[in-house]
Amino acid sequence: MSTVISGGTVVNATGAHTADVLVDGERIAALASPESGLAQQWAASAERVVDASGKYVVPGGIDGHTHMEMPFGGTFSADTFETGTIAAAWGGTTTIVDFAVQAKGTSLLSALDGWHAKADGNCAVDYGFHMIVSDVNDSSLREVDACVEAGVNTFKMFMAYPGVFYATDGEILRAMQKARETGSMIMMHAENGIAIDQLVAQALAEGRGDPVEHGLTRPPELEGEATSRAIALARVTGAPLYLVHLSAAQALDAVTAARDTGQNVFAETCPQYLFLSLEDLARPDFEGAKYVASPPLRPKDHQAELWRGLRTNDLSLVSTDHCPFCFAEQKELGRGDFSKIPNGIPGVEHRLDLLHQGVVRGEISLPRWVEISSTTPARMFGLYPRKGVVAPGADADLVVYDPAARQTLSASTHHMNVDYSAYEGMELTGKVDTVLSRGRVVISDDAFHGAAGHGKFLARDLSQYLL
Ligand code: URP
Ligand code: ZN
Ligand code: ZN
Repeated sequence: MSTVISGGTVVNATGAHTADVLVDGERIAALASPESGLAQQWAASAERVVDASGKYVVPGGIDGHTHMEMPFGGTFSADTFETGTIAAAWGGTTTIVDFAVQAKGTSLLSALDGWHAKADGNCAVDYGFHMIVSDVNDSSLREVDACVEAGVNTFKMFMAYPGVFYATDGEILRAMQKARETGSMIMMHAENGIAIDQLVAQALAEGRGDPVEHGLTRPPELEGEATSRAIALARVTGAPLYLVHLSAAQALDAVTAARDTGQNVFAETCPQYLFLSLEDLARPDFEGAKYVASPPLRPKDHQAELWRGLRTNDLSLVSTDHCPFCFAEQKELGRGDFSKIPNGIPGVEHRLDLLHQGVVRGEISLPRWVEISSTTPARMFGLYPRKGVVAPGADADLVVYDPAARQTLSASTHHMNVDYSAYEGMELTGKVDTVLSRGRVVISDDAFHGAAGHGKFLARDLSQYLL
């Protein structure tokens, strides 16, 4: 099946230029300048021609942080791999990297098997896995080699959630030593969970149970402190470090300082920290529960710092931390006790569109939009140049994006399997027009044309940001 995408502006992380794109089978076969006349020749024998005049042609988005069907606090995140990857496709994301979860007392490899059982044959776009390590012991550490061999070479640990996922500094140190030995990378949820649990207990004892207390009991200083501690442990071990879902200016300061010394420290932020704030957590009538995630949404003044970090590359990329829980049945579990509200915000469908507002508002350049949403994730997570670039030989994961279209986000129109939108009523400029996943048109004419099972598992190479 060959497709010609003609007349669009191809945007890569390196710049933008007008070009026609030939897709042959699952790959990009060629790019040609409009003056060459090649597109007309290609079109004569192509099965499909997509007119991209006035639109951008960008590499499919790569969301390096999702949680489909993830167990949390006695329930499961509401998107399956099928519904979540279909929603991703609607939003121009053609690859997700989801977190397989090692439950305490189980092995990493059984966690990996469990995640394959959920995802294989069900995804509409390509997918890979990170591993959540909740039990650091000799046997888990030995299994790291087999995980790396299987294309899962990024391991998330938690300085938060004592008694659940929490790892001690000693355990983190040991895991970092193993990462250093194997060329893999530790991803850190950096919040001081021991101190936070005291603040949570105090708030509940004083009868403060509303959702906003979730934010007030997890102050930004405790993300900054944990981030600095993780960076120190990484420095001692010589291991690289990747900070997930960075939300606070204090944490960004620690990352910036470490990077300025040349340390291999990387961080992502998420759209919710760029566009939502503590004010949303404080919404009345339990509405704030919709915005409970960890780290929590911060006061608005952190947002400018995060945009600064994205411009200067102290923040390398943006992932969603998509972790949907329905308001009606799941967030409800924490009414009166914010500590029981399942943690997570839906967003896999909206990352490209929300980040495009950064271009519209002059926060980031057009190529930087592509870089933080596709190219850097591809390089960071060992998928480049198969993914993350519009170039001959790359997978034909392509998005035709209409920068002038207008849309209003709403739960009544989104495709995620969740009963609310964290961005309800937000008006955006720009919209996904057409999406190809490995050469197959999966979104066009406001309809989904893909299929669960089209998505393939991606055994990832080691990060290209490491020596
Ligand atoms: O609240 C969040 N972020 N839920 C997902 C799990 C995690 O810590 O990333
Ligand atoms: Zn986390
Ligand atoms: Zn997460």
